[in-house]
Amino acid sequence: MSSQIITNIRSLLNVRDKTHLLRGKKLAELPVIENAYLIIEDGIIAKYGSMQNIQHSTLNAHTIDVSEQFVMPCWCDSHSHLVFAGSRENEFVDKIKGLSYAEIAAKGGGILNSAQKLNETTEDNLFSQAWKRLEEVSNLGTGAIEIKSGYGLSVEGELKILRVIQKLKEKSSISIKSTFLGAHTYPLEYKENHEGYIDLIINKMLPVIAKEKLADYIDVFCENGFFSSEETETICRAAMQYGLKPKLHVNQLNSIGGIEAGIKLKALSLDHLETLSPAEINALSNNPPLMEDEWKGLCTLLPTAAFFLRLPMQHARQLIDRGAAIAVASDYNPGSSPSGNMNFVVALSCIQMKMLPQEAINAATINGAYAMELDSEVGSITVGKKANLIFTKPIPSLAYLPYSFGNNLIDKVMIGGEFI
Ligand code: NIG
Ligand code: FE
Repeated sequence: MSSQIITNIRSLLNVRDKTHLLRGKKLAELPVIENAYLIIEDGIIAKYGSMQNIQHSTLNAHTIDVSEQFVMPCWCDSHSHLVFAGSRENEFVDKIKGLSYAEIAAKGGGILNSAQKLNETTEDNLFSQAWKRLEEVSNLGTGAIEIKSGYGLSVEGELKILRVIQKLKEKSSISIKSTFLGAHTYPLEYKENHEGYIDLIINKMLPVIAKEKLADYIDVFCENGFFSSEETETICRAAMQYGLKPKLHVNQLNSIGGIEAGIKLKALSLDHLETLSPAEINALSNNPPLMEDEWKGLCTLLPTAAFFLRLPMQHARQLIDRGAAIAVASDYNPGSSPSGNMNFVVALSCIQMKMLPQEAINAATINGAYAMELDSEVGSITVGKKANLIFTKPIPSLAYLPYSFGNNLIDKVMIGGEFI
């Protein structure tokens, strides 16, 4: 058995004997041990405590002294589209010059642009592009991530992305969940034939995905000009027959019934939520006390997407103050968030959504783990969980992390007990 002892940790963050999804006021509770030690055995957190109580006989094992450093669980990024081909900075510049989303789409831009690029890219090439991004985000402290398909929009294209995600799962030591988002937009040839594309998703894509176990979840982009709430429900119900739980894109630009559908379907999480009516805020917040089989109420906010698209920020404060359960994630994708940097997501959550540093860190770790059903494996310093850890550079306090946005304050990242 390999043993490592981390000693003299200035502050060990997010230490929990047992974890729960953090709702409302509880999101601000971030348990810490000052001047702590942490023992890792075979890549798993085995013990922790205050340096005052360390048994000196244990110090024979491999000891790493990290005086001055904060140690915390790695980020759990519960919403990303990290498998895509190429990039779309031309559209970014077109938007700066004043072109609207519709004008860009008319020039073949947007999701369809990425789909064309992806369908022209081989699986091997796609894998190596995705692998680079995964390495990049793990160096930035991400230790668990959900990755969606959705830039294939054809049977082969969607399966290609999901197979790439499967390979990433096999090769990477970070925890990965896979989501099928064939319903990201209608491909051109199905623009006027929605039924035809939904039929393709249900009868040609889902059976193969289920047979080859290529996805953990189902997602739909429920939005005007994309998929209606009825279409969302139809696709989700078909996927649920194969055991895929919904994790949905809702209310990014418009409120068209996605939240109602998601609650009815008991979606694992409802994501984006830039546009919310008072009644919807109520529906998302007002669920405790929860019954066993009720909707758990996870709302995943993606502040870098709102920032990049110059949309109003998500209503984090109202949701939290009224008791909702919030996770924050990167939405890493070529169109609305070409960055998977969770440190910036956390900073933006504080700067623009007025989340407290403790709330943002919890939302990006333990609640993110819940949003991927990885809560027994990652997201907190808990005995039995993977030693996926961020070691910070010397910082004066934990609030310094989001305060000093844009600066890289990570010294080292450990995944499964090994420094990367
Ligand atoms: O989550 N909203 C839908 N999908 C992506 C962006 C898609 C794109 O422009 O490539 C998102 O923001
Ligand atoms: Fe997204």
